[in-house]
Amino acid sequence: MPRQNSVVESAGLTTNHAPFIEQARHDGQLYIQQPYELYTGENHVAWRRLFARMGPRWERYANEHFLKGIHSLCLDPVNVPKLEDVNRFLRPLTGFQAKAVSGYVPAFLFFDCLRNRSFPTTITIRPSDQLDYLPEPDIFHDVAGHVPMHTDPAFAETLVRFGECAHTAAELVAGIRDEARQVRRLTSIIKAMARFFWFTVEFGLMRSKGGLRVYGSGLLSSFGEIEHSIVSPEVQRYPIQIEWAINQSFEIDHYQPLLFIVDSFDHLFSLVDQLEDWMRDGKLNNAAPGEPEVNERDLMSFLQKG
Ligand SMILES: [Fe+2]
Repeated sequence: MPRQNSVVESAGLTTNHAPFIEQARHDGQLYIQQPYELYTGENHVAWRRLFARMGPRWERYANEHFLKGIHSLCLDPVNVPKLEDVNRFLRPLTGFQAKAVSGYVPAFLFFDCLRNRSFPTTITIRPSDQLDYLPEPDIFHDVAGHVPMHTDPAFAETLVRFGECAHTAAELVAGIRDEARQVRRLTSIIKAMARFFWFTVEFGLMRSKGGLRVYGSGLLSSFGEIEHSIVSPEVQRYPIQIEWAINQSFEIDHYQPLLFIVDSFDHLFSLVDQLEDWMRDGKLNNAAPGEPEVNERDLMSFLQKG
């Protein structure tokens, strides 16, 4: 109906205020197209402001692979990027591509996408007067924070390994007859994987010639926390240990007080390899309680393997 269409168009694609996204969710569509014409002038202004203020901080605190990635993706500093343009530059480098989604992707599906070199990508953007951290991901977090990392072959292979670990987890629990035991074990394994992912892909620090640099996308997309993570005396920074990361709870609504350091992406890849060995050995079966919560949809996604 024309009236409905005009409402959908004028509301744009703003975080928590995007009728197009609400409709897609209502229709049960997880994977969607990016309806580029729906972005409003305000949506583009938000992108422009976010991108402009991050530039100097990336130069100072981001790892070199990210800086190279930003350059090779030719990200538009002025307008919200079109995923098809981003993918045209990205795909030849590592085979990865950004794939538009309507919202939360249950854990197994998320990791399985990574295994297939697809990255579930939020297409909405935060309001232009709320540029600081939001708990919800948006296209700035996903495309400016994550996707440049996917141009790096060693990092891309690490994401694929995470995806393979999820398949291993699904296979390991598939044979458990007792349902309560199966759910308990799977909850623990998902929790351990989610923590390891959080402390590396989302909030990781890396050693480099010039000192510590950021490679975690939660930091790369946060104007305040990228600097805080490197310079603040309030942050504990330690060489990563698997046994610590998988048992360490975290909260998402404030700056992280504890961050872990890797030496390189080859190092990170070897840790994900090791994580899978630990999973097979049963060392992820009794992760310490605490955040993150593992929800029913995450569990079902593993039990049904998607
Ligand atoms: Fe993220």
